Amino acid sequence: MKILVTGVAGFIGSRTTEMLLERGHVVRGVDALTDYYSPEIKWANLDRIGLDRFEFLHVDLNETDLDRALDGVDAILHLAGQPGVRTSWGETFDPYVRANVSATQRLLEAARRASVGTFVYASSSSIYGEAESFPTGEETLPHPLSPYGVTKLAGEHLCQPYARSFGIRTVALRYFTVYGPGQRPDMAFSRFIRAALADEEITVYGGGEQIRDFTYVDDVAAANILALTQPVPPGSVFNVAGGSSVSVNEIVATLSDVLGQRVRVSHAPAVPGDVHRTGGETRAIRAALGWRPTVGLDVGLRRQVEWLRTLPHELAGIPN
Ligand code: UGA
Repeated sequence: MKILVTGVAGFIGSRTTEMLLERGHVVRGVDALTDYYSPEIKWANLDRIGLDRFEFLHVDLNETDLDRALDGVDAILHLAGQPGVRTSWGETFDPYVRANVSATQRLLEAARRASVGTFVYASSSSIYGEAESFPTGEETLPHPLSPYGVTKLAGEHLCQPYARSFGIRTVALRYFTVYGPGQRPDMAFSRFIRAALADEEITVYGGGEQIRDFTYVDDVAAANILALTQPVPPGSVFNVAGGSSVSVNEIVATLSDVLGQRVRVSHAPAVPGDVHRTGGETRAIRAALGWRPTVGLDVGLRRQVEWLRTLPHELAGIPN
């Protein structure tokens, strides 16, 4: 299949593309290479992908000629977006709307014009807000608590009318805190490991009792590929959750074990929009796509530590 991957230079996009190419697919990747974090990291991700059966377009989805970008494409994996739960307040909201809502609508319109059969959308556990029960099923009424979560939910909801009215096989995948080699430098594991390796204090927001369902990046990439290639009804929505129910404090303790050193911690106030707990029910994706998580937190965390240890210092990533 020929697949358009948006956000191809990012954490999940670059890893999924590598795995798509290994499975014999052809990928056209697009990315605006925004400076939310260092574009050097994104260029390094692209270098890793190589050029065999891969074509890269350095474009902004809100500006480029999408009809050309979709020429010959069978399926779309729409990962491009403005990430970051805690940075979506105030003045910075505009880029979230532009990247997560407007670009999604533009791409869906282009998919409709080009009769692209499948549209996989990267949604987020943040659409649930403080869920009432755990593990949280897809039928739970979404109540996002951050402006970021609102824009991700809007993008997800945009898929429905295009599925209903034009039969595009849209599949929204709600990823739960993705980690592993290549993780974005602004996320918790990246920050914690980088600080610990430099023997600096890590900063824990609030008391550190917040719980996350962490999901390993290769498992997320596998879910993406199944959603792109297997038949499911238009308008499908699935959680993609690793199955852990671990607090930030427990992560810090595990990291101390993995590194064989006591990790020093300082506390900062809890950040608005940061929910107390996430945990995804994955029965639906198991039944529909045969997906299940395969990499546990211990193994995944070790792999991320090894990756950061061997990365050239300038690419270990300081968020802009
Ligand atoms: C992550 C991604 O950043 C979002 O893009 C994604 O949509 C979201 O997962 C999701 O699953 O929906 P988050 O869960 O906040 O968001 O992921 P991390 O940045 O890895 O934070 C995990 C936990 O660590 C949070 O509770 C946060 O408060 C805590 N944290 C983070 C700290 O205590 N200190 C830090 O320096 C960073």
